[in-house]
Amino acid sequence: MTIPLQMAQKDLEFSVTRNEQPRSAEERELILFDPGFGNFFTDHMVDICWSKKGGWHRPRVQPYGPIALDPAAAVLHYAQEIFEGMKAYRHADGSVWTFRPDANAARMQRSAKRLALPELPTDYFIESLRQLIAVDADWVPSGAEMSLYLRPFMFAKEAFLGVRPAEKVAYYLIASPAGAYFTGGVAPVNIWISQHLSRAGKGGTGAAKTGGNYASSLMAQAEAYENDCAQVLFLDSVEGKYVEELGGMNVVLVYKDGRIVTPKSDSILEGITRDSILQLARDRGLTVEHRPVTIEEWRNGVESGEITEMFACGTAAVVTPIAQLKADGYTIGNAESPAGELTMSLRQELTDIQYGRLPDRHGWMLRLDE
Ligand code: PLP
Ligand code: COI
Repeated sequence: MTIPLQMAQKDLEFSVTRNEQPRSAEERELILFDPGFGNFFTDHMVDICWSKKGGWHRPRVQPYGPIALDPAAAVLHYAQEIFEGMKAYRHADGSVWTFRPDANAARMQRSAKRLALPELPTDYFIESLRQLIAVDADWVPSGAEMSLYLRPFMFAKEAFLGVRPAEKVAYYLIASPAGAYFTGGVAPVNIWISQHLSRAGKGGTGAAKTGGNYASSLMAQAEAYENDCAQVLFLDSVEGKYVEELGGMNVVLVYKDGRIVTPKSDSILEGITRDSILQLARDRGLTVEHRPVTIEEWRNGVESGEITEMFACGTAAVVTPIAQLKADGYTIGNAESPAGELTMSLRQELTDIQYGRLPDRHGWMLRLDE
């Protein structure tokens, strides 16, 4: 990754304004006891401005709070926005770590390119994480399976209604203490197959982490809830035949012969959790296939017993077993299926690395609180 010259270390000077009314220790402890997902936010946030003329400037840490936006800000009209999702983990010795932040920084740069936004250099991205942890480290929970979810995002803030790439942009980082993403914890979930609605199209923004992809998933997600499913599975928008991904997670299938298969497509978000799980599987000597997968292959594989386990994975959901897929007119698998053995063992290995219980043999972890 090349870092532009104006991003030299001297520019990484963040101004810090402390929140004068942070939550009390008692209030914070109460929240950290059972935060759920995405409900509560820490006392501070980071922001960095960008303009076409001045590049990245004015990095700062400030109290968490509402953002003043001109009603004509381009993001509110044309959705020029991207985000990332990652976590800070507390290790047994109290230290605070994050997982593969360079991969999130690189993906945010790819998303930025696709949405005609400026690319935030990796050192700015990582420094923003360190700066937030420097003031909000007490918000990183120490409970089992808990973490501080980190949400970097960037949007067009220029007040201009012409449709073109904005010339004023803001990068923000906020954080939210997190337990399990699904209310049932790590229990297997049912998934709704969307047969009429697409998340992303050919040549579209499916591979970018941009809010529009999530907006277009919501109607199908509502259908999923109506059908007692926790998430929605999207198929390709051209033939409705190839498996893509869930609204907010990638999918992985385990075959009886030990193969691990996951869909490949230009309109899937390339998950960092999936990439890491596939690496752990390869380390165990398992064969990994990253290739187009049809919904027919999935259905036939489960019916014949060739496919023995299936799971969803992503930062928020970690690794979540899939019990059954439901569609108009058919189902795949059994709603009562227990979590797969390999699924849970890969999950355990990944979280053991993230929480510092196993050696970090791939150099994935970065300490944030020093
Ligand atoms: N696919 C979508 C649509 C997502 O929102 C996410 C979550 O970030 C993922 C896949 C998994 O990505 P990652 O493992 O990097 O969190
Ligand atoms: C994440 O896993 O970080 C995501 O962005 C997915 C979202 C459903 C919370």
